Amino acid sequence: MSKLETRVIHVARREDLPALEEAAEIIRAGGLVAFPTETVYGLGANALAGEAVRGIFAAKGRPADNPLIVHIAGEEELESLVSQVPARAKPLLAHFWPGPLTLILPKQPHIPAETTAGLDTVAVRMPAHPVALALIHMAGVPVAAPSANLSGRPSPTTAQHVLADLAGRVDMVIDGGPTAVGVESTVVDLTREPPLLLRPGGVTREELREFLPTMVVDPGVAALTPPLDVRPSSPGMKYSHYAPRAQVVVVEGSREAVEAKIKEMALGYQAQGLRVGILATRETAAAYKKGKVQVVGGREELAEVAANLYTCFRRFDDLRVDIILAEGFAAVGLGLAIMNRLRKAAGHRIIRVD
Ligand code: TXA
Ligand code: MG
Repeated sequence: MSKLETRVIHVARREDLPALEEAAEIIRAGGLVAFPTETVYGLGANALAGEAVRGIFAAKGRPADNPLIVHIAGEEELESLVSQVPARAKPLLAHFWPGPLTLILPKQPHIPAETTAGLDTVAVRMPAHPVALALIHMAGVPVAAPSANLSGRPSPTTAQHVLADLAGRVDMVIDGGPTAVGVESTVVDLTREPPLLLRPGGVTREELREFLPTMVVDPGVAALTPPLDVRPSSPGMKYSHYAPRAQVVVVEGSREAVEAKIKEMALGYQAQGLRVGILATRETAAAYKKGKVQVVGGREELAEVAANLYTCFRRFDDLRVDIILAEGFAAVGLGLAIMNRLRKAAGHRIIRVD
């Protein structure tokens, strides 16, 4: 693809929102704009224009069979995208939108095949970020947006992450500061009975079960039991979301046992001449005397861990470590999404101690 000049605009305060008019014009004209959401930065294009959407796949190097999430700025826009809003969707919208919940519903015929990768369903979400909402509203079209990273890299949680991957490949990046949640939205398929949790994210399984008591977690969700050879239910599930240069190993168990195991492993790898990265917590960081230590947050502070996880992944890549030893977290609440991303990054190389 030919190199574009990527413009960067800063929209940090409410007074800056009018500057988004230019970004909205780019979207209407078929271009690509990266923008902040409450989860991660998205790479947006007009969801109803097949050619614009093809631009997203080209810029990211994303496989064409992995469908996109369509972002809307108001609940009423849902009806123009889906052929039916099932009764059980309504309380979810009322409670979780705007917010990090993506619903899979039967699509309307006018949504181009590029957006849904040829599926007869569409993923829709209404993000809870003032910049995202204003941009979609001003563009006047639904905005298809995957995470604004090169395919295979961690999702971006800052505009700098976006530029590191996509400078010269997109028309504009809107810098709205670091994103709050840090992991992507939760994806739930409501076209199935029982409803199926395809990707854990910012809305927790426990919160969802209050509204969808029969909901099941797809066996492909890596976090509870490491699955082998499970056929993916969501096209995106078959792709390893983050394949760092370094090999990731997750160590799970009690704090003391994890600490001891990681120390022992770090020594062993260093003795082999390897550069070791350690994804540590505030409680344990001081115990590690070897390796490049990144503190991802407090052991019980899962919101903080989620917010910092991808930044830590990117730092390890920048530090060019050969192996990353990561402490595991309990797979409850936001921990389910955190462990899903960690285990995927590790390609299921997981060690359980005690
Ligand atoms: O938080 C988020 O969801 C971010 C921000 C930008 O909104 N977006 C995001 O998009 O993470 P992406 O493309 O990186 O992940 C979308 C996931 C993929 O795993 C994809 O396979 C799945 O949603 N998906 C999209 N449409 C689907 C459909 N019709 N059926 C099943 N899965 C679908
Ligand atoms: Mg992504």
